[in-house]
Amino acid sequence: MSGSKPSLESRPAGVDQCVISEDIELSNLLEAIYRRYSYDFRAYSRDSVARRVQYRLSMSQIASISELQYRILHDESLADLLLKDLSVNVTEMFRDPDFFLALRTKVLHFMKEDHIRIWDAGCSSGEEAYSVAIILNELGIHPRQQILATDFNSSILDKAKQGIFPLGRMSSYIKNYLAAGGEDEFSEYYNSAYDGAIIKRKLKDYVHFAYHNLATDAGFHDMDLVICRNVVIYFDRDLHERVFGLFYESLRDGGYLCLGSEEGLIGSKYDDYFDVVDKKYRIYQKKAGKSSTVSGSANKLTSKRCSAP
Ligand SMILES: C[S@@+](CC[C@H](N)C(=O)[O-])C[C@H]1O[C@@H](n2cnc3c(N)ncnc32)[C@H](O)[C@@H]1O
Repeated sequence: MSGSKPSLESRPAGVDQCVISEDIELSNLLEAIYRRYSYDFRAYSRDSVARRVQYRLSMSQIASISELQYRILHDESLADLLLKDLSVNVTEMFRDPDFFLALRTKVLHFMKEDHIRIWDAGCSSGEEAYSVAIILNELGIHPRQQILATDFNSSILDKAKQGIFPLGRMSSYIKNYLAAGGEDEFSEYYNSAYDGAIIKRKLKDYVHFAYHNLATDAGFHDMDLVICRNVVIYFDRDLHERVFGLFYESLRDGGYLCLGSEEGLIGSKYDDYFDVVDKKYRIYQKKAGKSSTVSGSANKLTSKRCSAP
């Protein structure tokens, strides 16, 4: 087998061996998480994962990624902390109010039917889904579990279902709500108790929270609108394509897709399958009649299509 493996002397000059070793350790860590806990971060953007792992190393005073790997395999509470670090849950109500104004005036305003199917993917603690529910309520669209809000972090979903948010955040949420075209009193949507704002039942009735993993699960069908903001930014190119494929196949013809301000279809093959409704706020509309070309190509689905409730 001589010649099949470079000798130590012939290693490429200038390549930082330390960086290579760390990359190998990182791959092994992600593989270990996947095999032990079934969470798949292997196709997440490397830089972002590396930053979050470094954060956990310093917070837990662990010397190396390999040691972290050993520890999380045997210590579920440490694994839980790392999983939380890796799933960034930052969110707020009417985040990027101008986007919500565009969503209200360019999309939801024209959906006056009773059976609107909306999928909010990567919903975190629920603020985004409740913001959409407020708009539906103000447009006179009645609840019938129209928003399916999903995330792969079960503890954040429990928080979302409770719908209790810090009272201290309400003043900035009111500003966002008004800038997003809110028409009522924001305080109509929650009850105050101690230092918490509890979302009212009339909004909760609009939303159904459920577990769904964009990296491994199949999509839904006949959705009128898919919202997935500030989620794919953490994914690598291949996972982007998988997830855009899921959204494409989950939408009905003419259905809308909303991505985050740093995310978009440019550079993806799915760019051709959507019209741009609002370039700045990344709102797209699915073109008709392309499904058969897309199905089963880059979109390697491993599980059955899920049915929305
Ligand atoms: C930064 S938050 C975005 C929340 C909300 N969409 C917003 O823009 O305010 C990203 C969310 O994506 C979720 N997430 C990350 N990877 C995911 C995956 N593979 N499947 C489902 N959700 C995922 C995280 O748990 C987190 O709650």
